[in-house]
Amino acid sequence: MILIVLGAPGAGKGTQALMLSEQYHILHISTGDIFRSNIKQGTPLGVKAKEYIDAGKLVPDDLTLSLIMDRLRQPDCAGGYILDGFPRTIPQALGLAEELKADGDELTAVLDIEVPDEAIVARMGGRRVCPVCGESFHVVNRPPKKEGVCDHCGSALITRADDAPETVQKRLAVYHEQTQPLIAYYREQGKLLSFDGTASMQEVFENISEALERVNGSCDQK
Ligand code: AP5
Ligand code: MG
Repeated sequence: MILIVLGAPGAGKGTQALMLSEQYHILHISTGDIFRSNIKQGTPLGVKAKEYIDAGKLVPDDLTLSLIMDRLRQPDCAGGYILDGFPRTIPQALGLAEELKADGDELTAVLDIEVPDEAIVARMGGRRVCPVCGESFHVVNRPPKKEGVCDHCGSALITRADDAPETVQKRLAVYHEQTQPLIAYYREQGKLLSFDGTASMQEVFENISEALERVNGSCDQK
């Protein structure tokens, strides 16, 4: 199974991708997480990416494409994967389509999680993330068992640098301009499944799982 999770910043892509990867035992690949890990390690890629991420802009397509293509060629991707936050532009989608075609792979579905901008702004202010294992929490919607501490690994939770309100506004503008066109692109290909991302995390997950059962069922019958 090859899935793409599409949605505005804070729509819940990472939250749903993690739940789906556990449910279907497939890899969760987040370009944002890969960039953040490179930033933390101070790699040349991290140094370049930080400049864009801190400004709320997209990392340039050539850098992102070469990073993701290297990742998709690793043997652990053979069993399927969920792409969280990639593709984010039409050129990235075309690059991915070329790679899939070359490998004889087919995209299973694109999960579009829809949340209005006002709800996003409210959500981002409450997000807390674990800098070690990447788990995401929310002070109201998904509080950790112990305040400020990751449930999974016990590290101190932080607020992401790009969750500052003015950066969130920039990220939303970039999403509408550069990423939203992918919705029409994948709808035309018959791959798009849209979900109301304002429902609870569990409800969104159940709606996605049901839709995927239908897609898998129809694949099995072919
Ligand atoms: P990335 O890390 O992908 O950030 P993003 O797309 O802005 O999305 P987020 O991770 O902020 O949100 P999310 O949708 O994963 O939501 P989450 O589940 O955490 O990318 C960061 C940056 O890297 C980009 O800005 C860009 O610069 C660069 N980059 C990455 N990929 C790139 C690419 N392909 N090309 C170029 N540049 C790229 O949820 C958010 C909060 O809401 C959490 O607190 C969560 O607990 C809560 N929540 C989740 N679901 C619900 C719900 N249903 N109800 C209530 N609360 C919820
Ligand atoms: Mg995320």
